[in-house]
Amino acid sequence: MYHTPKRTVMMQVGKPVTGKEFIGRQKEAREIIQYLSMGQSVVLIAPRRFGKTSLTLEVIRQLKQANNYTAYIDVFAHANLKMLTESIVSEVLDNNGLKKAYHKTKGSITQLMKNLKLKAVVEDFEFLLGMEDKTVDEWTNFSDSLKFINGFASKSNKPMVFAFDEFGDMLKYDKSGEIIKLFRSVIQKQDSTTYLFSGSYESVMNELFVDNNSPFYRLARVIKLGYLEYDILEKHIITTLKSHGIAIPQAQVIDLITQLKGHPYYCQLALQQIYLFYNWNRKLPSTDEVIELIIQVDGSYFEKTWENISSNKELTKVLKHISQNSHGLYRMASENKINASRAITQLTGKGIIYKTENGYDFYDPVLKFWIHKTIYA
Ligand SMILES: Nc1ncnc2c1ncn2[C@@H]1O[C@H](COP(=O)(O)OP(=O)(O)OP(=O)(O)O)[C@@H](O)[C@H]1O
Ligand SMILES: [Mg+2]
Repeated sequence: MYHTPKRTVMMQVGKPVTGKEFIGRQKEAREIIQYLSMGQSVVLIAPRRFGKTSLTLEVIRQLKQANNYTAYIDVFAHANLKMLTESIVSEVLDNNGLKKAYHKTKGSITQLMKNLKLKAVVEDFEFLLGMEDKTVDEWTNFSDSLKFINGFASKSNKPMVFAFDEFGDMLKYDKSGEIIKLFRSVIQKQDSTTYLFSGSYESVMNELFVDNNSPFYRLARVIKLGYLEYDILEKHIITTLKSHGIAIPQAQVIDLITQLKGHPYYCQLALQQIYLFYNWNRKLPSTDEVIELIIQVDGSYFEKTWENISSNKELTKVLKHISQNSHGLYRMASENKINASRAITQLTGKGIIYKTENGYDFYDPVLKFWIHKTIYA
């Protein structure tokens, strides 16, 4: 009989996780919080779907609880600089419970001055009056909003932690890089605010923070997020399934986690797929079947990822090779007359592969299976 699924913690996969759904990452959270609390800004870099947003939100939650001023903004979600500026202002104001009131004014000066609490803020930060003024250019407003973050905090004598998620997306507002210079100079002068910048390798985070001639080099501590710990995942998968009356042998869980390398997103997706499979078939899927199900669910993601690199034969050759062998890359490269080091630099920069003890491997274990399966099919 098919059981109607209850709404459960394991049913959604893809959105950032919070609360009970958020597992592990204790050490990382502690480290980030320590840096931020000592006035050191942090950059959180990881490949896609490693849990950057979830961890960022968790860190912000803990800091808020510890009485810091906090704010979180997803740069990706803002279509233009004006919207971003407005969000910065309203997230800062949220620390005084003024976000709603600010939104209601829709930037009207009369409305702003009507609300006594907002009026008091405006008196200290006059630029707020120019936010809807067409004669004030958006760069001035943006730059003022960055100063507002720190000004607001220091006025209340509180430390502020401001998180910019998908920070690499900042460049979409300005290809020349002026925005980054502006950020740099503003941050350097701020003493009540520390920043948490998150983003994926693909989104130029490397160029912005890691290269030693990058604009933010040494300005923020870089933390690279890895896979989840196996024992935490193991316990999570076993107890979640158990709470739904599904018993799964420990060895099978370990095998699955090992195949998926502790990748947070895929392990959650696997859990969801096992649950669904069990509901339909009244038996557990094998590890291969789970991976097959993941490939079906995420097929278009792999196709798109492949499409993005397929025009570069050097990259595709190297990826095909790594999907099959952990060594022998340079021999293959010289036989095919391709520049392996150049390909490796590009692929690591994009967050697709990383160096292992004896060669290179994929960050995304299922992409590896997919390439292997599709290309050699
Ligand atoms: N700490 C965690 N505990 C449980 N699940 C997690 C955790 N981190 C990530 N996940 C799983 O991975 C998915 C993606 O998480 P999240 O959106 O935080 O990653 P991201 O790195 O910000 O992704 P993107 O690159 O798409 O922005 C979540 O939906 C969840 O299933
Ligand atoms: Mg994210």
